[in-house]
Amino acid sequence: MSDKEKNRIFSWVLPEKISKDLEPLLEFQEKGLSLDELSGLIDRSLVPHLVRYDLPAFQAFFNSFPEQGAEFGAKIALRYNQCVTNWHVSPGGAMLEELCCRALCRLFGLSSSADATFMYCGTYANQQALYMALHRHAEKHGFDLAEKGLKGFARPGELAVVTTGQAHFSLRHAVRILGLGEQSLVFAPVDRNFRLDAGRLKETLDGLRKTKDIFCLCLTAGTTSTGSVDPIRPVVKISRDLGAWLHVDGAYGLAYSLIPECRSLFSGVELADSVSWDPHKQLAVPIPNSLLFVRNRNEFGRMAIYGEYFNRKDDPMPNPGLKSPPSTRPLSVLPLVASLRFQGLKKLRERLRAPVSAIRALNERLKGEPDIELSHEPDTGILCFRLVPPGFPEDSLDELQQRIYEKIVSEGRRSISITRLAGKAVLRLVAVSPNVTEQALAETVLNIREIASREKWW
Ligand SMILES: Cc1ncc(COP(=O)(O)O)c(C=O)c1O
Repeated sequence: MSDKEKNRIFSWVLPEKISKDLEPLLEFQEKGLSLDELSGLIDRSLVPHLVRYDLPAFQAFFNSFPEQGAEFGAKIALRYNQCVTNWHVSPGGAMLEELCCRALCRLFGLSSSADATFMYCGTYANQQALYMALHRHAEKHGFDLAEKGLKGFARPGELAVVTTGQAHFSLRHAVRILGLGEQSLVFAPVDRNFRLDAGRLKETLDGLRKTKDIFCLCLTAGTTSTGSVDPIRPVVKISRDLGAWLHVDGAYGLAYSLIPECRSLFSGVELADSVSWDPHKQLAVPIPNSLLFVRNRNEFGRMAIYGEYFNRKDDPMPNPGLKSPPSTRPLSVLPLVASLRFQGLKKLRERLRAPVSAIRALNERLKGEPDIELSHEPDTGILCFRLVPPGFPEDSLDELQQRIYEKIVSEGRRSISITRLAGKAVLRLVAVSPNVTEQALAETVLNIREIASREKWW
């Protein structure tokens, strides 16, 4: 394989070619293959089309190759293929999950009454948080949501979740699946760094309260587009006065609360009713690995479904499957524990700090550059900006970003992303792996400029 091929993010061929390459893998036959034959087949047909998250030029999304300790733990988990729904199917697995949840609550400085549950992904963690919020709200309306469903509310059409337009689309999934519909999501204003504008929140809520039954305020601690951390502490009192559940979606961002220079951004997170977190993002543990924390462990009581054959009501043993579905749950806890123990917290902090520092350094470097319009001050490991070559027609700037993005991705040497902020197309660089250095980010900016000048679109 040439150096050029080795450093490709992925094959960057069209879906037709990938589909053709994959065909031999799917020719199910009477006779099986040897493991050597199978390995060769997978290497030829699939591997070239997988994405190299480990390369410094992968600057597009939140994915990573597994960290060494995590990979080690995952191999053991795979060997035993444990289902940790309850004590009876995996005493060690169930107990490890329970103890790790408590240990993580301590690591994040949550209250002594806090607890957590492992989930498949941040999407489901957010969904469960909204369900628990709605359940508690139903109790205030005098009925059991698990039993009556939305029919118990006199005016279900008024139920509302207040968040910002920067919230992850998993909240849209959540309200759809809860039967509330997307009309139940209400967006509060953000400041110029795309964080919730806490100063204007009260006024927004006062206006809404006349027509809406607000049961949940949902903040994002590390938004998907810009990595911005909504202010948490000022919203705690507002949510309590309102009687609404406070959920913090920290799927991407919460890990950064572990590094001292970011900690103050997360002030008050310990007071939220629930918090989502995805170690399968920048902690580089294998997918699936996600958690939902609650401030008061009794909140999980709303999730319990008891069976006759297991998860029995009278069973005193630890049963993680009572806190969240599914009942066939993987031993995701082991790769996470193995990773934390292998690296140690010092190395973990260094791992988290490196990409954040790289993004902050790039931001400083780009300040004052006449052809760059920075979109925000970075709170975590994401920087969005536009290339604005002097003299370039304003009304074609969106198209310019789009074409730069397409060109970069099609060259296959680096991977970036594109999004929209305040109505404008912006280029988005993400540093999740410590391999994404300031140098690697600066090379991307150079590449962006080269493409724009090479193509001479104006
Ligand atoms: C802020 C935020 N919340 C939730 C999610 C969803 O997480 P998952 O992809 O694990 O479902 C994401 C994914 O990027 C995210 O950025």
